[in-house]
Amino acid sequence: MKKIVVSNKVYYVGTNDRKKSLFENNWPLPNGVSYNSYVIADQKCALIDTLEFGSKDDYLEVIEDILQGRELDYLIVNHMEPDHSSMIGWIIRKHPNVKIVANHKAFKMLDAFYGIPSESILEVKDGDELNLGYHKLKFVLTPWVHWPETMMTYDTTDQILFSCDAFGSFGTLDGGIFDDEINFSFYEDEMRRYYSNIVGKYSHMVQKAFAKLQGIPIKFICPSHGPVWRSNPSKAIELYDKWSRHESEDGVVIVFASMYGNTEKMADYVARLISERGVKNIRVYDVSKTHVSFILNDIWKYKSVILGSSAYNAGMHPMMQHLCNELEVLNPKNKNYALFGSYSWSGGGLKSLVAFAEKMEWIQTASPVELIGSPSESKMEGFAQIANTII
Ligand code: FEO
Repeated sequence: MKKIVVSNKVYYVGTNDRKKSLFENNWPLPNGVSYNSYVIADQKCALIDTLEFGSKDDYLEVIEDILQGRELDYLIVNHMEPDHSSMIGWIIRKHPNVKIVANHKAFKMLDAFYGIPSESILEVKDGDELNLGYHKLKFVLTPWVHWPETMMTYDTTDQILFSCDAFGSFGTLDGGIFDDEINFSFYEDEMRRYYSNIVGKYSHMVQKAFAKLQGIPIKFICPSHGPVWRSNPSKAIELYDKWSRHESEDGVVIVFASMYGNTEKMADYVARLISERGVKNIRVYDVSKTHVSFILNDIWKYKSVILGSSAYNAGMHPMMQHLCNELEVLNPKNKNYALFGSYSWSGGGLKSLVAFAEKMEWIQTASPVELIGSPSESKMEGFAQIANTII
């Protein structure tokens, strides 16, 4: 295979995973995902992060083809989640003298996951440097982007940021590896979905990482998933900054859980009212049909959310409960919201939604609408107020 050169002596040695259905056994991968790993073949040779175990059967050969018989001196572990670390054992077996480079928070995990004792690890602290010859690496600790031990590696020579999960994306790299080789409109959606599903919970830590990186010139961003940025890295930074500040676009996401169609009719009714008021970005989702991964992505994207549930065992529908649980964990902020529900005897769906919404620091724009039985025009008058105020 042709070598994929990022910059002087820096090579992309990642792979595509088109087999896995669920990332972390939770998030759908209709477009797959890439695991990115990089070799720097300098006077000293370094590998930056590995891949998910078994995702690339010729991984070692590809690395050997670049090293041309030389030893790997360093394996830099930016992040211990197994989608990047679970080939460490293979690397050690092939290169028994390789020095693992990690920060202290990774030590316990390296031992717990792979039985690697701390004595054999080269510890790096925030701002420490490692001279490979031409390339000089600097380590930037960025805890909780995505796990507590996460760090980034910055090459001060060619100004490359090996950012691990940050700036990553779902979606395989289908021929195009670099930002100037792809149609980014496809990846923007998958990048935001990755952000909202995986990293978004830690948005305040992303902002802390940005503060640390402030003023550092970045020519390349080499993340551990998705496209490598070499032409317009400021685009990736701009998007991440926006998402981690919880800035959103004008639009409404209406999500309903409906057992027999009555709550769905309410969702369609309010969607139409909002459309009549000139709003163009309206998405209506059946939470029992569309995986929460995609709904969360749109909730992160748009400013306003309307949630509706039928009553179910005196609470909200279980599928809506699942979405609410994820929203509570991932915690998108600065949302306008409204609620609705339906019931057959004593209710409970709307009451549970109200209890959920009180835990979020969102802005309620209008009173909820609740009705018994099947919807009719007269039972849904309250939706006018929601439609008038939600944007
Ligand atoms: Fe791509 Fe947090 O691992």
